[in-house]
Amino acid sequence: MPIQNPAALIVLAAGKGTRMQSDLPKVLHEIAGAPMLVHALLSARELDVARAVVVTGHGADAVEAAVETHAPYASCVRQDEQLGTGHAVQQAKDALDGFEGPAFILYGDTPFIQPPTLDAMANALSDADVVVLGFDAADPGRYGRLIEAQGVLGKIVEFKDATEEERAVTLCNSGVMACDAGLLFELLSEITNDNASGEYYLTDVPERASARGLTARVVRCDEAETMGVNSRPELAKANQIFQQLARAEAIENGTTLEAPDTIHFAYDTYLGRDAHIEPNVVFAPGVTVETGARIRAFSHLEGCHVSRGAIVGPYARLRPGAELSEDVRIGNFVEIKNAEIAEGAKVNHLSYIGDATLGAGTNIGAGTITCNYDGVLKHRTTIGERAFIGSNTMLVAPVSVGDEALTASGSVITRDVPKGALAVARAEQNNKPGLARKLMARLRAIKAKKGK
Ligand code: UD1
Ligand code: MG
Repeated sequence: MPIQNPAALIVLAAGKGTRMQSDLPKVLHEIAGAPMLVHALLSARELDVARAVVVTGHGADAVEAAVETHAPYASCVRQDEQLGTGHAVQQAKDALDGFEGPAFILYGDTPFIQPPTLDAMANALSDADVVVLGFDAADPGRYGRLIEAQGVLGKIVEFKDATEEERAVTLCNSGVMACDAGLLFELLSEITNDNASGEYYLTDVPERASARGLTARVVRCDEAETMGVNSRPELAKANQIFQQLARAEAIENGTTLEAPDTIHFAYDTYLGRDAHIEPNVVFAPGVTVETGARIRAFSHLEGCHVSRGAIVGPYARLRPGAELSEDVRIGNFVEIKNAEIAEGAKVNHLSYIGDATLGAGTNIGAGTITCNYDGVLKHRTTIGERAFIGSNTMLVAPVSVGDEALTASGSVITRDVPKGALAVARAEQNNKPGLARKLMARLRAIKAKKGK
């Protein structure tokens, strides 16, 4: 059900992440091409997000730069000292000044919360003042325990502060919480650090709510969604889980994956219905493949758009800005970068096409290169419709070739070719009768002499 009230997000990302053994802040480690922090933000993509605040601390400069790049709609606030999750959320108070509506608290290192789960939490707010996301833990370990009775959450106890009886509870706290923003900050202002860790616990919020006669409830999700990433092995596992989910979703949505386990997705890969993906294809970020297009084996795609009916590969590389129209053919060992290839055009073998425009129905012969870089600047090549570029043509940009023009094989094209013209730009062939035999005889004689 769509959510009526715009929501605020508060993403906690100030922690150190010592166990990552890395100079990079933990939340910036990538899963499928995006920092895990971005995955956390994207888990709210089905909510109507009015404001998003990321709480930074360790590695704040780098985290803030990444937020600016990947999620410019979010603002950042600093938590200079990490005094606990409750204290972290309090740092977002000023940034949410004037905001009215539900606030959702997420963790920057918990990338797998699914959008329908947050939807369910939003819906639960119609019947509760505080909603906590819980899960039945196979191994409850050191998670906070949710103490629930008759569908009401009485309190959350942290492992360190729990009694034996409380530790026996397997319903655990994921950390995700939703509550009206105004109420959240009011309740947080009441919490203290009088506990086993000496921290301001966000988890004290439900108990503060019940003390006021308000209601806290639990929404349950699958344990897999709550997976946190704290170490390199967990990061590797998270990437693996992401791939499994992305493959399953693509198949579910009508894409053919010939060998699903060999296809690598980015966090934002979009594959249309009936798109056909052969084995060993890598999708880096920013790829859209439309309905009915085919990506053949061992191709690598990034930042590109492949239209209906196009066929790419095997062994093709599409780099950022490759824009393929319908029924285009890109064949083996071809690299396309920042180039628009119009309908039905073909670049089938061993070519580099960069910073270029190719008109509809144009054919690029094997080995053709757009020489786009002079060592300092990049220049464009423009080729019209139904042109025929002979094999091994060097197109020295900036240069243009008109509609229905032709270039002779092996030409080095340095000047514009008019519409319908044939450009020949290579040394003329000169046949010397009998000279090959004479030459070989002479060389063999030299070798024979040396051999003695
Ligand atoms: C927290 C919960 C626990 C829950 C568990 C789920 C509290 C008190 N406990 O425990 O009930 O079962 O998560 O994983 O909330 N952070 C800050 N600033 C701080 C402290 C933490 O930004 O001052 C961030 C961390 O970077 C991390 C998140 O908050 O992303 C959770 O903090 P963490 O220290 O991992 O909490 P847990 O002890 O695991
Ligand atoms: Mg933790």
